[in-house]
Amino acid sequence: MKKYLVTGGCGFIGSNFIKYMLEKYPDIFIVNLDICSYAGNLENLADIEKDSRYIFVRGDIVDSELVKGLFEKYDFTNVINFAAESHVDRSIKNPELFVKTNVLGTVNLLQRAKEHWLIGDDEYRPGVKFLQVSTDEVYGSLGETGLFSETTPLDPHSPYSASKTSADLFVKAFFDTYKFPCNITRCSNNYGPYQFPEKLIPLVYNNACNLKSLPIYGTGLQIRDWLYVLDHCRAIDLVCEKGKLGEIYNVGGNNERTNLFIVKSIIEYVNKNVNSSCTEKLIKHVEDRKGHDLRYGIDASKIKKELGWEPETPFEEGIVKTLDWYKNNTTWLEHVTSGEYKNYYKNMYGDCDE
Ligand code: NAD
Ligand code: DAU
Repeated sequence: MKKYLVTGGCGFIGSNFIKYMLEKYPDIFIVNLDICSYAGNLENLADIEKDSRYIFVRGDIVDSELVKGLFEKYDFTNVINFAAESHVDRSIKNPELFVKTNVLGTVNLLQRAKEHWLIGDDEYRPGVKFLQVSTDEVYGSLGETGLFSETTPLDPHSPYSASKTSADLFVKAFFDTYKFPCNITRCSNNYGPYQFPEKLIPLVYNNACNLKSLPIYGTGLQIRDWLYVLDHCRAIDLVCEKGKLGEIYNVGGNNERTNLFIVKSIIEYVNKNVNSSCTEKLIKHVEDRKGHDLRYGIDASKIKKELGWEPETPFEEGIVKTLDWYKNNTTWLEHVTSGEYKNYYKNMYGDCDE
């Protein structure tokens, strides 16, 4: 039986991943190690918390004794590292925390997994693997043309992407130095249920429903490649099962949209389904993000060709599914926008509604 250590499983992608895996594999065991930061929410996993194949442990991926103890107790065959500080704007204000969690945390997990799995000189237990969930942001920014491939030089611009790049380099170093069994996936922007409303889509949806200003950084002509979260989960599972050791796989939706397009799609949905007073008049262009990357675009042909993965959810379908979910889960949205979020929002967007 496969035994997974999933870190950051109370966050957006991690919680979707745990549920996806429990549904897909009857014979599986998952330990979710999560510190429950502002972005980690046990409510995201309420429907599976009593599943005997699942255990939650509250703790820090930087804590070496804790991680060592978990390996000894549960004898994991796989590690999927989602745990991270994930928001670019927060990294601009507090880079140190990103180094601690994203870099030191990853190195601690790598070390503990290596110690536990090693059975001889550069020899590991059969079938074990560490998967680092990384991001397209490590490649920096594109101009109007071209796509990021796995061989595009790394050129991160924000403290967030610099910390994710450093983590990737440590994973690569563990493969190159110790032949450590691992893969890295680099995915584009995810959207779907349970995303914390500091990120564009749930933030704009929440504001639109409450007829608050919709903050667009700069021109709004920046481009992101959007992928439905369950398509990302499928890719991670596949790389974990079949990815060639040491390889990096880009994952993308082949779905590039400007931020303005995304915001207008949300306005249209809210106008039709939630509040007919919501119109484009709510759009407010605010100061641009520092070091804002203009465009991300992913060439996902390697994972397609080698592992047969393709995105399955068209954006038009995924965005309606996503917004329907937020519409039907107003209590969740109310919970996550109370407390810490209020201060964060005030500091970030304080004068937006004036
Ligand atoms: P998220 O912010 O929603 O969740 C992160 C989770 O990590 C939270 O549950 C948080 O409590 C936990 N965490 C933070 N610090 C921790 C620590 N020190 N120890 C243990 N747990 C800790 O993030 P997300 O959007 O779900 O992203 C998950 C991963 O996927 C990240 O590594 C991110 O870089 C990567 N990624 C995200 C996207 C995206 O569009 N969201 C795209 C590509 C890659
Ligand atoms: O590309 C993958 C990355 O996608 C992940 O690695 C990150 O963890 C994830 O947060 C996401 O990063 P982005 O910075 O692209 O996502 P965010 O939702 O913060 O912003 C999307 C775009 O929208 C970006 O160009 C900034 C812009 N934006 C965002 C917010 C929150 C606005 O214009 N206004 C806003 O209020």
